[in-house]
Amino acid sequence: MNKTKKIAIGSDHGGFELKNEVINYLQEIGWIYKDFGAYDTKPTHYPDYALRVGKAVIDGEYQCGILICGTGIGMSIAANKIKGIRASLCHDTFSAQMAKEHNDANVLTMGGRVIGKGLAREIVRVWLMAKFSQESRHIIRLQKVVDIYEPC
Ligand code: RB5
Repeated sequence: MNKTKKIAIGSDHGGFELKNEVINYLQEIGWIYKDFGAYDTKPTHYPDYALRVGKAVIDGEYQCGILICGTGIGMSIAANKIKGIRASLCHDTFSAQMAKEHNDANVLTMGGRVIGKGLAREIVRVWLMAKFSQESRHIIRLQKVVDIYEPC
């Protein structure tokens, strides 16, 4: 594992508890991270944290991000509005592996009300270890995604 990568992590109130578990895991395995909030379970707004984490990744100080809300859906929708962010909602390890190998996902999203702590740890482990395949078909497809702009 390339532990020189720095991880930006954030949640809303719905993902707060699971985020703390993921932070515990990152500390255990020795990855560098920064917690961009929320810092308690007071109701808050997930797009604010998606923007903070997404910008931190795009600015380059952090090479990848983890965003957790109640379902992971809002974080995924919001983060994918940021140019250059490829956020993937993963609630199983196969998706986590593919999100990196095929989609070069630079942000992982999960739902704190959907999965348990053990599975979340395993998803994070697999996602951090996986690498983009660099296969030309996936490079072409990712470029096609970049090329999409208001087609309707
Ligand atoms: C907050 O109640 C909840 O809507 C939020 O955490 C998230 O699940 C949105 O997608």
